[in-house]
Amino acid sequence: MSYALIRPFLFGLDPETAHRAAFTALDAQAKFGAAKLWAGRLPKTPRTVMGLQFDNPIGLAAGLDKNAEHLEGLAQLGFGFIEIGTLTPLGQPGNPTPRMFRLPEHNALINRLGFNNDGVEAALPRLKSRTIKTPVGVNIGKNAATPITEAASDYLKCLRAVYQTADYIAVNVSSPNTKNLRDLQAPDSIGGLVHTLVREREALQKQHGAYRPIAVKIAPDIDAKQINDVVRAICDAGADAIISSNTTLSRDGVSSHAHAKEAGGLSGAPLTERADRVLEKVVKAAGKTPVIGVGGIMSVADAKRKLDIGASLVQVYTGMLYKGPGFIGELVRGVHR
Ligand SMILES: Cc1cc2nc3c(=O)[nH]c(=O)nc-3n(C[C@H](O)[C@H](O)[C@H](O)COP(=O)(O)O)c2cc1C
Repeated sequence: MSYALIRPFLFGLDPETAHRAAFTALDAQAKFGAAKLWAGRLPKTPRTVMGLQFDNPIGLAAGLDKNAEHLEGLAQLGFGFIEIGTLTPLGQPGNPTPRMFRLPEHNALINRLGFNNDGVEAALPRLKSRTIKTPVGVNIGKNAATPITEAASDYLKCLRAVYQTADYIAVNVSSPNTKNLRDLQAPDSIGGLVHTLVREREALQKQHGAYRPIAVKIAPDIDAKQINDVVRAICDAGADAIISSNTTLSRDGVSSHAHAKEAGGLSGAPLTERADRVLEKVVKAAGKTPVIGVGGIMSVADAKRKLDIGASLVQVYTGMLYKGPGFIGELVRGVHR
């Protein structure tokens, strides 16, 4: 099967319909173990990050499988880890459609989905009953209706709910599509939030006898002068990793495109350079705390560069939509050394 033949059909559909069609096909293949054919032969590039074992450093970024409904198929594609979510305490519909736009000329997407998800409780049975060995991180956020001043209580609810079933928890304070969410990453706010979650984790660790790493996902739009302070506040509060980065509000490189004025976060090729520059600063500021590099990985060279900059692991989203399900195996083989 060739993705070059399937892509025109998928790109003829609106992006959310294409998403559902692609996952219907993947799930059907996964039932018979056939989704593995996309991956091909995979070398192991084992590594330990945040105390967890990974067979390879290529992960799925949050947002593609928000409700943990496609874990088997995604694992068969060869990912070294899968991040599901963003999950919020209560299910919510997200923003009105249309809310996702392709910019094929730029290998990019703009989305303002706004944390559409079924709520954290709905995902738990699927997380608990999963049989895949691939580590699964759970990305958590706040409901749109929760005032930003009460955001911590939403993160605490999600942390408690997923603690036993997540391999790690990713705290998303960087989606551009939930009003004021990014205010949480201000240098004088983020330390307090992470500290609250780390303190709760201590209690959960005692209760369940298991340590779950906490990673914090940041935006690529943080003022260059503040990155050091933001990252230090996150690390000093006891986070186990930084995920850098989410989508960007910038339209650099795509400003003349018909969709450029759509509100939302830009991902894919136009984000690569910006994400790499931010990653360099984040890695430097994070010191011994590991960093997961995300943003605009569209080729093996892009993934390698993020690892060379100092990322311990990387994640992909938009690249897979443009390059297809075989892209994961290609990346795993490409970064193997
Ligand atoms: C349609 C779409 C939905 C996304 N949803 C989420 C989300 O729910 N939570 C999150 O932390 N990041 C979300 N992201 C951001 C991605 O995880 C990733 O950080 C970003 O797209 C940059 O990587 P990429 O260029 O490989 O796509 C989403 C991205 C896209 C394109």
